[in-house]
Amino acid sequence: MATNNRRWILAKRPHGMLAPGDLELIETALVPIEDGQALARVKYLSMDPTMRVWMTDVPQYMAPVAIGEVMRAFGLAEIIESRHADFKKGDKVLGLTGLQEYAVISGKETRNFQKMPSIPFVSDSSFLGIFGITGLTAFFGMEIAKPQAGETLVVSAAAGATGSIAGQIGKIHGCRVVGIAGSEEKCKWITKELGFDGAINYKQADWKEQLAAATPKGIDINYENVGGEVMRAVLNRMNLHGRVVLCGLISEYTKGEPAMASFSQIIIKRLRVEGFLILDYTSRYLDAGKQLGMWKMMGKLKDRQTVVKGLEKAPEAINMLFKGENIGKLIVEV
Ligand SMILES: NC(=O)c1ccc[n+]([C@@H]2O[C@H](COP(=O)([O-])OP(=O)(O)OC[C@H]3O[C@@H](n4cnc5c(N)ncnc54)[C@H](OP(=O)(O)O)[C@@H]3O)[C@@H](O)[C@H]2O)c1
Repeated sequence: MATNNRRWILAKRPHGMLAPGDLELIETALVPIEDGQALARVKYLSMDPTMRVWMTDVPQYMAPVAIGEVMRAFGLAEIIESRHADFKKGDKVLGLTGLQEYAVISGKETRNFQKMPSIPFVSDSSFLGIFGITGLTAFFGMEIAKPQAGETLVVSAAAGATGSIAGQIGKIHGCRVVGIAGSEEKCKWITKELGFDGAINYKQADWKEQLAAATPKGIDINYENVGGEVMRAVLNRMNLHGRVVLCGLISEYTKGEPAMASFSQIIIKRLRVEGFLILDYTSRYLDAGKQLGMWKMMGKLKDRQTVVKGLEKAPEAINMLFKGENIGKLIVEV
């Protein structure tokens, strides 16, 4: 039985990429749990671009992580001891475990955790990817997009956790799907393995010409994960009355001040732009998970994970998201 808990706390608000000393690894003694508490051992941690936003103190959708506080993170954990009415030893739970080895669940924190079923052939870590926040985000984002057969859908960060699923959902609905990603390997994966109709490597000098060639009939739907220059180029090719699902703006998260994409195209093309937060859809997670599971069983959805081993690697893993070093869902195996 472990006696200590290693935990990453936010020591300083970062500028740009995470630098050594922004997060600090500390070790504290595990205190025996009391009535109404459960102790969970964290197995997998979800690496999400929004963690970088939580580290800043700009206005945002949740309270910023305070200096000295354990860094907020989603994780999959197993209950190892319980004096809590809702959990028993051996239960798997998904929730805001924090970037640490052990999490104590009690009081109002309980609502941040959900018991996960054991489903044959479904790995625990996929509850952080295809059946977790990113898969569900893609599902509800594509619901907002209202894709129609024959329409052209362009997805940015297309080889990432959310983008790869959103693009495949577009294919299920009969769209022509073009992905934008940051390497040849990623472009090959989304076309050859996932069935995207086209892929553009935005790190090549002529990528905007390639985007034009890959979208000869213009773009009807933009599933946007990146913002900035990538989004500007996509907006320029939108068709009249197109839809923009604003899922994320990762190119801006390390910049301090959010930079605006050029919005004149929204007026000129009379676009419908809708932002959304996956947290608003909690009551429908189960139904969406069932649909994603059906598609996966039918071979219509494929997923991939990049797994980094060791809690001590978590800060490097967070930076990997901003350097494009993950394919599919990025997870830290604690
Ligand atoms: N609205 C919501 O509720 C919600 C929920 C979850 C996620 N999101 C958003 O969805 C987006 C994707 O998140 P994810 O968890 O699925 O991460 P991810 O796509 O698996 O990883 C991030 C990817 O973004 C790309 N990227 C990073 N910096 C970039 C830049 N400056 N320019 C262009 N591409 C860049 C990188 O791929 P390349 O190699 O292609 O550059 C990287 O692999 C993020 O914006 C996130 O905030 C929103």
